[in-house]
Amino acid sequence: MEITAGRWITVSRDTGDVCPVFRKCFKAGKQIEKAELQVTVLGVYEACINGSRIGDDVLAPGWTSYDHRLQVQSYDVTALLKEENDLRVTVGRGWFRSPMPGWLQSDDKKRRLKQPCGLIAYLRLRYHDGTDETIRTDESWQWAESPVLFSEIYDGERYDARITPENWQPAKFLDWPKDILIPQEGEAIRETERVAAAEIIHTPAGETVVDFGQEVTGYVEFTLDAKEGDTISFDHAEVLDRDGNFYNENYRSAKALAEYICRNGKQTWHPRLTFFGFRYIRLLKWPGQPGIKDFTAIAVHSDMKRTGWLKSGSAELNRLFSNIVWGQRGNFLDVPTDCPQRDERLGWTGDAQVFIRTACYLYDAERFFRKWLHDLAADQRESGEVGQVIPDLMPEGDSSSAWGDAATICPWQVYQTYGDKAVLEDQFDSMRKWVDFITSVTRTPDLWTGHFHFGDWLGLDAPEGSYKGSTREDFIASAFYAHSAHLVVKAGKLLGRDVSAYEKLHSAIVTAFRKAFPDYRTQTEHVLAVHFGLAEDKQKTADALAEMVIKDGVRLRTGFVGTPYILHVLSEYSHADLAWSLVLRREYPGWLYPVTKGATTIWEHWDGIHEDGSFWSRDMNSFNHYSYGAVADWVFEQAAGIRHDEEHPGFSVLIYDPHPDTRLGWLQARLDTRHGTVSALWMYQDNGIRYELDTPVRTLVLLGGEEQWVAPGRHIFWTAR
Ligand code: BGC
Repeated sequence: MEITAGRWITVSRDTGDVCPVFRKCFKAGKQIEKAELQVTVLGVYEACINGSRIGDDVLAPGWTSYDHRLQVQSYDVTALLKEENDLRVTVGRGWFRSPMPGWLQSDDKKRRLKQPCGLIAYLRLRYHDGTDETIRTDESWQWAESPVLFSEIYDGERYDARITPENWQPAKFLDWPKDILIPQEGEAIRETERVAAAEIIHTPAGETVVDFGQEVTGYVEFTLDAKEGDTISFDHAEVLDRDGNFYNENYRSAKALAEYICRNGKQTWHPRLTFFGFRYIRLLKWPGQPGIKDFTAIAVHSDMKRTGWLKSGSAELNRLFSNIVWGQRGNFLDVPTDCPQRDERLGWTGDAQVFIRTACYLYDAERFFRKWLHDLAADQRESGEVGQVIPDLMPEGDSSSAWGDAATICPWQVYQTYGDKAVLEDQFDSMRKWVDFITSVTRTPDLWTGHFHFGDWLGLDAPEGSYKGSTREDFIASAFYAHSAHLVVKAGKLLGRDVSAYEKLHSAIVTAFRKAFPDYRTQTEHVLAVHFGLAEDKQKTADALAEMVIKDGVRLRTGFVGTPYILHVLSEYSHADLAWSLVLRREYPGWLYPVTKGATTIWEHWDGIHEDGSFWSRDMNSFNHYSYGAVADWVFEQAAGIRHDEEHPGFSVLIYDPHPDTRLGWLQARLDTRHGTVSALWMYQDNGIRYELDTPVRTLVLLGGEEQWVAPGRHIFWTAR
């Protein structure tokens, strides 16, 4: 990349919280045919030429495993150039230098916080006469303090509109590696939707709160007419408490505060170098009377293409579908995160692994995940251990099963949904190393025993006071060990590698597992045994699971580990009715309970807000945690009935096997696959069920116990009740 011809530059003195702006003034001597800017920073940046913003990326350069990889953005800036030019780049702390994770004090965090701010850029001007000129970062660049007085991921942003940068100082060279520079790999983060304020609320506590009616990740833009020095300040929240008051204790140490000091006249502003997860803002300072038109929430996320849609005869189910989509939008900012609001916002591997199948249906997430998986491989430790979060901001922390298994599950899923082996090629070594890591640390050969694990995180069968469900940790770890080893075998075979050792390992794990765990004690244990092919008699185990679910009052008892698969196991073994009962359950615990409580995203806990309006907890209560949104992959595959088998990844051949349920009347799914658009509808009518299928590929139709191959095109089927 040409950018490496530039040099890293930085400020010549510590600016404290104030974000510096770098500038380069230059003359374009001749008529420009084309001008391209390559740029990246240590932090996040906003770049302008002659006062106009360059490109529409926000929070660039995005978030990667910065010690190994830093994305460079390239922009065509031809249209912005004049004869005299002023190129400016404002640099905020971003993910690079924010105190992440909020709750943790560690040597690695101290190291990261001491890192400098830095800029590297390269501008190539091509003139009409065929000559080139280049401008690159060096000591001729200058820096000054920008109007951004503070910007950070958790605490927010402060901006003083009265400030015009002055006292320009020469920039200083910075000794920082250039071999970490890579071209933009992920989807650019962009502003994707503007959500108008829905209501201004005067709360019982006497506060003024703006409600946007939808939880979004991004920031609030406001417009007002003000006097110089007027101050605006607001913080963010996801929910109101049971009395209707602003509530943000669940942000924990994250202040999530936006502050702005006005200049004279009409002005519009939004934070530029950070983001918030919120539905409400509380106006702490606002000159005069706020009007509803003064506020707009701007949703910001990795700009993936939407590919999946679900719609049904149930308004509550439709709200759930919408919540799942918003959950993905709110948590896919270059990295799949657990939540966008509290002092985490981290790339938790377990959460990503749980949700990836749904994510890949709703959006074209191939590029997004391939980039993140490169980060995972880059941060994977010598031993093959995979951190709890990627980028690995907790290198001191242990791996956990079902979290580290993101190393194998995610590449396999990307390959399955999109059908391109390249992801397996890229990740194969990482996949293999993860399995080797387990082999090297387990206390019992062919099982994974005796290690730290998150267990069936947030399992509903957890003992009082614990976040971990009752499923045995060695059971979960060994089941995922088997699954990961199996995925290495499957991926290796596709790539033509010798995986005989992993084949042997996989069958040894299955044998050892069956011996060590002859009985299944929890819902999750049944689910894993069937889903990972470990149970000797899968039908019998699924039947036992169904019985258990009924005995439990048609209630989930599963956590992060069991929940994504339980519906699949039930409906694949002829308990679709029961699966539907779980999905349609309106009482806690159930997917529709939060909907009845007004949720607009997926909650971390089924009962984040209790029946009486009180909260599940103060500190672990996110209202935008996508994991349980994983139900959508079941709706596509089992409920609407559009899936493919492993031999035909990317939907090159379709299997149509719907599981209708009279309680919702009708269900429609549309999926844009690599081979075209699939659309499927079933609908109860007076004397039967009508099925409509549009398929771009050869399809095996399984209806009413019959098998039938159909050609690409439109098909209507009918079954009598
Ligand atoms: C996160 C989870 C994550 C977990 C690890 C939590 O604090 O928000 O979603 O997977 O820690 O168990």
